[in-house]
Amino acid sequence: MTQPLPHAPATLRNREPILAVLREILPDQGLLLEVASGTGEHAAFMAPHLSPRLAWQPSDADPAALAGIDGHTQPLREGPPQGARILPALRLDTTAPVWPVDRAEAIFCCNMIHIAPWVAALGLLAGAARLLPPGAPLLLYGPFKRGGEHTAPSNAAFDRTLRERDAAWGLRCLDHEVVPAAAAQGFIAPEIHQLPANNLAVVLRRR
Ligand SMILES: C[S@@+](CC[C@H](N)C(=O)[O-])C[C@H]1O[C@@H](n2cnc3c(N)ncnc32)[C@H](O)[C@@H]1O
Repeated sequence: MTQPLPHAPATLRNREPILAVLREILPDQGLLLEVASGTGEHAAFMAPHLSPRLAWQPSDADPAALAGIDGHTQPLREGPPQGARILPALRLDTTAPVWPVDRAEAIFCCNMIHIAPWVAALGLLAGAARLLPPGAPLLLYGPFKRGGEHTAPSNAAFDRTLRERDAAWGLRCLDHEVVPAAAAQGFIAPEIHQLPANNLAVVLRRR
């Protein structure tokens, strides 16, 4: 019996608004590295809407996630060309000093930095600084604190449930944590897109 593919319901709600931002910021060609692909549903939905001169590289730290990602993207990888070419998923842990990819024209990371210890975010920023050429974007999506405060009661409640699951998890403050850590890696002040359900798309570009 074949295993059903993994499904994250949030991807159905957030994929269109995130795709709109990606379409605005992505270059016409090169490699888009997706960090923390999870189920792979974002890759499978978004890649067909992007330039055929782009390659989409999914990845995740969890080796158990890779088969699910490839399961979602297989029909696109094996079917007629449609939009960006999707590559087989790679194991990539942001905290590793060396990543299995050494250059990317853009990096996308959705809903990871609050559902992982802060070192995962620091590793992401350090890795993105190593891989991206000047001006190239790192897109972070998720809920953030602003000025040290939650921006909605639902985000505060979500933060509490995350911290109950793991004391090292929790919403990060864009102003006090993420932007200073990004600046230390050579990223300029971000473009911020307000997306539905109190989430942000944060576009950090290498100086
Ligand atoms: C909440 S899921 C989000 C998945 C997907 N981006 C989405 O929006 O549906 C968080 C993902 O981050 C991955 N992750 C956690 N720590 C990581 C790390 N240090 N490096 C890369 N991925 C990591 C987990 O394995 C998990 O797949």
